[in-house]
Amino acid sequence: MSCQKFFEIPACKKLLSHAGVINSPEKHLKNLIKEENRLEKFSLNRAGVFYDFSRQRVDEKAMELLFELAEDRKLNEMFNDMVIGKKINVTENRAALHTATRSFSDDPVCVDGRDVMPETRKVRDDIKQFASQIHSGKIRGTTGKKFKYIVVIGIGGSYLGAEFVSCALSDLADKDIKINFLANVDIHNFGRIVSLIDPETTLWIVISKTYTTAETMANTKLAYAFMEGKGLLPSKHFVTVTSKGSPGDDPLNPVAGSFHMFDYIGGRYSVTSAVGGVPLSIYLGYERFESFLKGAEKMDIHAVKAVARENIPLTAALISVWNTSFLGYQAQAVIPYASPLSRLAPHIQQLNMESNGKSITKEGDFLDEPAGTIIFGEPGTNAQHSFFQLAHQGKAFPIDFIGVINPFYKEYQEKSKGVTNHQELWSNMLAQAMALAVGKDDDNNAKYFSGNRPSSTFLLEDLSPENIGRLLSFYEAKTVFEAFIWDINPFDQFGVELGKTNASGIRSNIAAKNENSDYAFDKTDPITRFYLDTLFAGRL
Ligand code: F6P
Repeated sequence: MSCQKFFEIPACKKLLSHAGVINSPEKHLKNLIKEENRLEKFSLNRAGVFYDFSRQRVDEKAMELLFELAEDRKLNEMFNDMVIGKKINVTENRAALHTATRSFSDDPVCVDGRDVMPETRKVRDDIKQFASQIHSGKIRGTTGKKFKYIVVIGIGGSYLGAEFVSCALSDLADKDIKINFLANVDIHNFGRIVSLIDPETTLWIVISKTYTTAETMANTKLAYAFMEGKGLLPSKHFVTVTSKGSPGDDPLNPVAGSFHMFDYIGGRYSVTSAVGGVPLSIYLGYERFESFLKGAEKMDIHAVKAVARENIPLTAALISVWNTSFLGYQAQAVIPYASPLSRLAPHIQQLNMESNGKSITKEGDFLDEPAGTIIFGEPGTNAQHSFFQLAHQGKAFPIDFIGVINPFYKEYQEKSKGVTNHQELWSNMLAQAMALAVGKDDDNNAKYFSGNRPSSTFLLEDLSPENIGRLLSFYEAKTVFEAFIWDINPFDQFGVELGKTNASGIRSNIAAKNENSDYAFDKTDPITRFYLDTLFAGRL
């Protein structure tokens, strides 16, 4: 069934025409922010976070039309369908139940009439027990030593979320256990990691939903060979997190622990499942992992229950679509003023761009224009000294500023220019958002700032596990709401397949050459052949 084209929806037609109004000089942000009660009207303080969109290029009419679009797209209803287990991943005929992994409610969540909560709870219990046995030393390596290093092998959704959270909460981590992530197949990563670990006290956690991903398989093979080369037993040093029945879920290949992930959890939405649970519970302690889940659950409940106008991720998604589809911004930056959130942007890149970088509707029709937004980011103030020149005077892009009210380290109160470091950080965050919005006139064109550059500000009280959970869930829900607005499926990723297929053809050619040095790459295209010849020649 073919749905109405996006720009033909009545609310979209009105939004398109209203974008013309917003582009007029009177609606410059420097004027909008002077409106009475601007902050009160264009901000939400809910679910333990503060979301300020007063410096977005919206007025009351724009918001009214965006909420009309939300109603037309039945956003609350669609989100609820997802949470109760309807198969909204239509191309793969699957449910999308990442929210179940952090549900502590007694309510059942059914897929095909089967309650998935018992298996979800069991995975959590198993993780809790396993982490405690690692910490107590009940589970040890080949030589009887306690584990001191974890190396997580996995890529994409089987890596980025866990890395983001481990980095965000590393100040709370058990200082006796170090964590490393081996994602890329690049041998530099493997080489560097093995130079940092002590193999006897290393636990490798292989995370792969399919257990076929080329990078993860190559790194796992290398890690097995490395450990065996040191006389250490893989069965005592490897743990798997994979789907039931995958090639990695093999009783003939015993491991120190094995945990399941389920087909209703997409990779990039999996950090609250065993994918994040196993490494994070060992690195941070299970209790902290559980607090993180509870924070995510609070934001999930808000996303399901709050009406559109009070719903933070829904509102943020509407604004994001407004910026992309109606005001024409191609990119969006995520700038946390908190260094522990340095791996947030890479995680959101996969979460949002793999979910929403699509060209067809969920019914299979081509969209009026491709969906999605280019996401990038770095922590402030570093970002200011890197790409903010472009943000202020080059091509404009909306920004999510993320502020943390209370830093983890409160004891260092030395003041420079009358302020503490944390206050200096905040001065910068506040100054940037305002400078981008207001701009500055100057007779000298080189010093002229056009302003009218939109941003949101998102505040967390601190970097507790709960708040990291809220932040994660906020971005997941925002991503999903955006997809619902564009009428796309945020849970498949066919766009990553073509490159993988091509790599497999090239790999076969390289393997043939490895077997037979006379093998010539004459069946490949001339451009690829040049590079392969160069690789084998070892020089330019
Ligand atoms: O990049 C494509 C992708 O399929 C992601 O969606 C997924 O998170 C990642 O590869 C890893 O997949 P797996 O967990 O199966 O190794």
